Amino acid sequence: MTVVDHPLAGHLLADLRDAGTEPERYRTLAERLTSVLVLEATRSLPTVTETVQTPITATKVTRIGRHVVAVPILRAGLGMLSAATDLLPDIGVGYVGLERNEETLQPTEYYYKAPSLDDASVLLLDPMLATGGSAAFAAKLLRDRGATDLTLVCIIAAPEGIERLTQSDPNIRIVTACVDEGLNDVGYIVPGLGDFGDRLFGTF
Ligand code: PRP
Ligand code: URA
Repeated sequence: MTVVDHPLAGHLLADLRDAGTEPERYRTLAERLTSVLVLEATRSLPTVTETVQTPITATKVTRIGRHVVAVPILRAGLGMLSAATDLLPDIGVGYVGLERNEETLQPTEYYYKAPSLDDASVLLLDPMLATGGSAAFAAKLLRDRGATDLTLVCIIAAPEGIERLTQSDPNIRIVTACVDEGLNDVGYIVPGLGDFGDRLFGTF
């Protein structure tokens, strides 16, 4: 697991945690912080070497050598998608629709559509890894559809979620901005930032 220990990540996360941050600014902060996380998540992508002609001379250059597919978990993961598509314009995009039942904390699936995952590096986007139920469910769905190189990009992870996800999918990589203390008795991350989807879309 990689915790992105960068001053900019900490700075952006501070405002995301702040209960006074309004949805408009929240969306901008989520995008910016996701850009930092996606840079880290794509650090080990394979590259291919080519030759280009600069105005001065021919030189060898490297380009990304593998197709990348981003899969946000609806709905809160949508707040992370534009960062991935801005950084990687050739990216494929899939969607997994999951909703966590507020009493049982079990995720239920309501939507799935994605391009081929064969030979792709797949970035699963979900800001909150709480019990890990949603991420584990989505990871299994993507594995069953051919994902071999799979990374969860999340903004905050709880130790319980990390444990559950890595138990159910030992080969998944996790890139996060912070590992928090744990969960409260209704399954929210502490100190966390509250309900990410509600804060992103103003559904209070
Ligand atoms: C939130 C969050 C994760 C999930 C994490 O989504 O975006 O998908 O909860 O919790 P877990 O690790 O315990 O499964 P939610 O179900 O609230 O739906 P939303 O994105 O539509 O707000
Ligand atoms: N989902 C959220 O949006 N926040 C949490 O703290 C846990 C799950």
